[in-house]
This record gives sequence, structure tokens and C-alpha cells, in this order.
Amino acid sequence: MPIYQQRGKLPRKRHVVFRQPDGSLYPEELVGNKGFTGPASLLYHLRQPTTVKAVKPLRDLQWEPDPDRTLRHRHFRSARLKTGPSPVLDRVPLLFNADVALSLVAPERADEFFYRNGQGDELVYVDHGDGVLESPFGRLAFGPGDYLVIPRGILHRYQLGRGPWRLLVIESAGYVRTPKRYRNEHGQLVEGAPFSERDIRAPQELETRDARGDFPIVVKSQNRLTEMVLAHHPCDVVGWDGYYYPWAFNIRDFEPLVGRIHLPPPVHQTFEGDGVVVCSFVPRPFDFDAEAVPAPYNHANVMSDEVLYYASSKFMSRKGIEQGSVTLHPDGLPHGPQPGKTEESIGAKWTDELAVMVDTFRPLAVARQALAVEDATYMASWLDGEER
Ligand SMILES: [Fe+2]
Repeated sequence: MPIYQQRGKLPRKRHVVFRQPDGSLYPEELVGNKGFTGPASLLYHLRQPTTVKAVKPLRDLQWEPDPDRTLRHRHFRSARLKTGPSPVLDRVPLLFNADVALSLVAPERADEFFYRNGQGDELVYVDHGDGVLESPFGRLAFGPGDYLVIPRGILHRYQLGRGPWRLLVIESAGYVRTPKRYRNEHGQLVEGAPFSERDIRAPQELETRDARGDFPIVVKSQNRLTEMVLAHHPCDVVGWDGYYYPWAFNIRDFEPLVGRIHLPPPVHQTFEGDGVVVCSFVPRPFDFDAEAVPAPYNHANVMSDEVLYYASSKFMSRKGIEQGSVTLHPDGLPHGPQPGKTEESIGAKWTDELAVMVDTFRPLAVARQALAVEDATYMASWLDGEER
């Protein structure tokens, strides 16, 4: 995120002598993406970030697709998924392709280890629960409706506050960023974008942990988890500055664009990756022309698979869904409001819907684990009584 931040103590310039009270140097570390050319931050540690005592493989992450590839609309009741207690190890795969992977976790306790995703950016939608994302950059408090953006390579850990907790994890092979059309040539969000830098929350309280011992870190790389044991607490940073850090944006800080007649889904766009966009549907007034039809028209989403995560059980064009429902409308099949929903929307003034949409440009596979909570009747939900 191109907003420069600095926390704690920093030397006068980069890469110059910066000494601790005992006369030793503060080890300096560059954390960023794309080698030395992407966005980055410089961190100043108490100890070398390279003191690995041991490494061991934990497990391979093979996501198995549903073998039934019959093209059809799908609906998964993800709130009914049983997941394990860890926020990062017990994520249940839902949908995936080479660009993006969606999983869900309802964690029950904080991990003792730290986690680093070395192969993708993580965009985590907090459906329920609050807590603090702990990282070498400081403490980032989160709560319901927050998107947490955790760029690749950033070590972190979820401290859980008030539960229950439910996290939708969107893992992106490309960098997660604000849509290009929202930024001017200097990187600033333009007037007219549905949010501004003021809505973006960076870590605030820098905590410098001075402790030796065995500190396990689980690293995801090459679709494999590896555990490395660091010889000291990894959050031993006394200062950092730069453009690379975890940040949060709350879905309710998205300012919806509303028109006299229906505006298409791109007006709800919040993030982009490579081959994927993420949109936020938030409470808003409906289209205000006396003859407007607020429900969306049927559309053939050619060259796009559309996924909706319903953070509320209300959605103007949909029925039969519940909070936590995930629908997949794949490329090649038209979809639209279900029977009665178009008529019902005419004259309505307001919607309370809250949903996260993930549209991919390449087809998504359904993960086998999602089948346990599939509503197999969904494909037929557009038929009215007589057609059934
Ligand atoms: Fe759609």
C-alpha cells in the first residue's frame, strides 16, 4: 500500500551505523516483494533475523478438486463447516485456481507459533470476532467487517479477543492492491474513489520483544509448510519505515456509489490482484429513479467466475442463502435474481446487504472439503413452482 509509514527509532539514513546502548549494531532487514524493486520496509532488530536453530517439513498442501466438473451454479453453506482451532493451519479449502484460493476458518485459539506466507498475499475478511494481528510492524487491532491485507513474507500471528471467530481467507498469487483506476499517477487514492487513505489502518503500537529461546515459525512456500525455529522472539523490532506492512480496511468504510438506475458490480470494487477482483456490497440506498429496477439484470458473466460470500443473510437478488453462504456462478452460465426478487426490488429504498464478491478471470475448482456443506438444489433455485 503506497502510504509511507514509520514507527519507533530509526537511524538518520538507510544503511548507516545504528547502535544499540551496548554498542552493537541493530541488524537491519529489508522486507518487501519483487526483490529490491517492489514496495518494501526497512526494519531494525535487536538480533539477527537469520538465527534459525532448526528446520523441519510439516506437510504438503495439496488441494483436491471436486471430481464432478459438471458446469452448474453452486452454493456452499460455509458457516456449517467444521474447522480446527488454528487460524492458519486449519483453514478449509473452498475454491481455487492458479491465481487465487479461498478458504474458511473458524479458529478457537491463538497459535503459539508465528506464520509467514512466502508464496502469496493474504486478504482476510473478518466475518466474526475481534483480536489483534501481531507482527514485527506492531499491533493491528481487527474486528468484524475488516479486511486484513497481509502482503507475502510478513510474519504474523492472530491474537484472538472476543469470539466466535470466522475468517474468509483469500490468498492471491498476484499482489493484493487497490484498483489502479482509484489511484493517480503518484499512487494517491483519487477523489471519487470509494475510500481514502484515511480509512486504511496500519499497525500502531510497536512492541519490541527481547527474548531468547525457541520461537517456531511456520512458513508457507511452494505449497508446502515448513517449520523453522528462530533463536529469539521474531518481534524484536525497535523501528521500521517504508511502504510494506499489514493493514486493515473495514467494509463499512467503503462508500457505496449509487445511481439513478442500476450501476454494475465494478462500482463495488475494493481490491484487485492478478486474475481476480474483490468487491464489497454494503448497505446503501437503492437506485432512485421512480421506474428503476434495483435488482441486477440477468447476466452471462463470460470470462469470469463469480463468487459471493454473504456476510449477512440478506441479499437483494438472492433467496435461500444464509450468513456464510458462498455461491459460485461459473463462466458460461447466465445468472440473475431468483423468482420474485426483481419484482420485489421495485420501489424499495434501501438494502442492508453485506457481501464480499470475488470474481476470477480463470475458472475456479471446487475443493473437495466444500462438498460437505453443498446445497445441491441451488442450480434449480431459479425455477418457479410450475417449472419444478
Ligand atoms: Fe453476477
